[in-house]
Amino acid sequence: MSSYIKLLLIISFPVGAAQPWNWQSIDTSDIKFPNSFVWGVALSEYQNSGATTSPNSNWASWETTTYRFGSPHILNGQQSGVACDHWNRYKEDVQLAKDLGITSLRFSIAWDRIEPEEGVWDEQALQHYEDYVDECIAQGIKPMITLHHFVDPLWFTQKGAFEKEENVFYFVRFAQKMFERLGHKTKLWCTINEPTIYMFMGYVLGMFPPGHNNPVLALTVMRNLMQAHVESYRAMKAMPYGDVAEIGIVHQYLVFEPYHSWNVLEYMPGLFFNFLLNTAVLKFYKTGTFNIPLISRFTYQAPEGKLMDFIGLNYYSRVLVRGQLSFTEPIAPSHYPDEIMTDMQYAMYPQGLYQAIQKMSELGVPIYVTENGIADAKDDRRELFLKQYIYAMNQAVKDGYDVRGYYYWSLMDNFEWDQGYSQKFGLYSVDFNTFDRTLNPSAQYYIWVINNAIAKI
Ligand code: GCO
Repeated sequence: MSSYIKLLLIISFPVGAAQPWNWQSIDTSDIKFPNSFVWGVALSEYQNSGATTSPNSNWASWETTTYRFGSPHILNGQQSGVACDHWNRYKEDVQLAKDLGITSLRFSIAWDRIEPEEGVWDEQALQHYEDYVDECIAQGIKPMITLHHFVDPLWFTQKGAFEKEENVFYFVRFAQKMFERLGHKTKLWCTINEPTIYMFMGYVLGMFPPGHNNPVLALTVMRNLMQAHVESYRAMKAMPYGDVAEIGIVHQYLVFEPYHSWNVLEYMPGLFFNFLLNTAVLKFYKTGTFNIPLISRFTYQAPEGKLMDFIGLNYYSRVLVRGQLSFTEPIAPSHYPDEIMTDMQYAMYPQGLYQAIQKMSELGVPIYVTENGIADAKDDRRELFLKQYIYAMNQAVKDGYDVRGYYYWSLMDNFEWDQGYSQKFGLYSVDFNTFDRTLNPSAQYYIWVINNAIAKI
């Protein structure tokens, strides 16, 4: 069989237009989760503490520079500043998380704070995170640490970051440093957050640093990120407490579907992107081989043995691919007229969470939903969002898929990368002048779920 036909067969399977769920006849309160189910909230250091507290990073430099013709990298030329001042207010924020009733908090480590110059470790920053973890534990909250959430130290960027295979070493060394310090206190670890998004936004669309439009380089970056995951995973597992730790990687699952199921011009790009951004990457996580026929093939040198203890799933929406009359942009993401939009210009698509879980379960490891949330400045759709997405996840749990936990994105409004402060994902709203945090009414539903939806099933 020619590679081309093989490629079509492999990629055509996952993009079936799913039957829409009829929400009118669904009782979203009919949910039950196991007692052991982990309820959490997620945040990330740069988004909550900003460039002022992470000055030696690629993002701090990206924020203050512009595209070639002078337009700012961040919407309206905004800068993150101290964001929510989480660096100084983390104790208060752990308390706010606790007030929701959650049992786990997912946060990330600022690598550039820990290692501001190559090989120089900042003891104060290390201590900061140890205190952070201690604070969580004191509140009965399990920390889930993410080692890499889009942000690189500037010295690492200057060395070529993940564009160069030899730089994987630096990430692994940083992972070991953190595990050595916190491995005895922290069981849940994510190596890298959303490698496909880091690669696609930074190297294909050029909307995240380093702002390249270079698909060939993008594939190299992807390979090196996957290698960085496996090597850091194996290095941490070999350390004291590694055997009891649960270490995984976080994948953003984008559900691609054609706007018109009969339109091959919409169907084919959806298949291609699904293959590139989901299937090929998940195949690597399962087998150690990354293979895009005719384009790129890479096998991690030691594929035997485990490649992760769990997979983190970030799920938000689907990409509905629609053809349009344009030479430069023949397809664009779209939505159906009756769909409920979030503030992020994508629709609510809860049943996609079920589809994503189904797909991710093929890896044969437990799943944590490490991010799921809605940008909703008016707080008038978040409750419905939570009802429908949590229901969809519960259907998967009831059907036997091994989902162990759920982290709402995010604890509070924060800096949404290229979108600046325009997107409000928080269960708590933040006043960025006074730093006051206020619980949104919709959060009551999440609190209700945590307290009531637990029963042995
Ligand atoms: C991502 C990140 C988060 C985002 C969130 C909302 O997916 O881009 O993990 O940093 O803030 O997804 O868009």
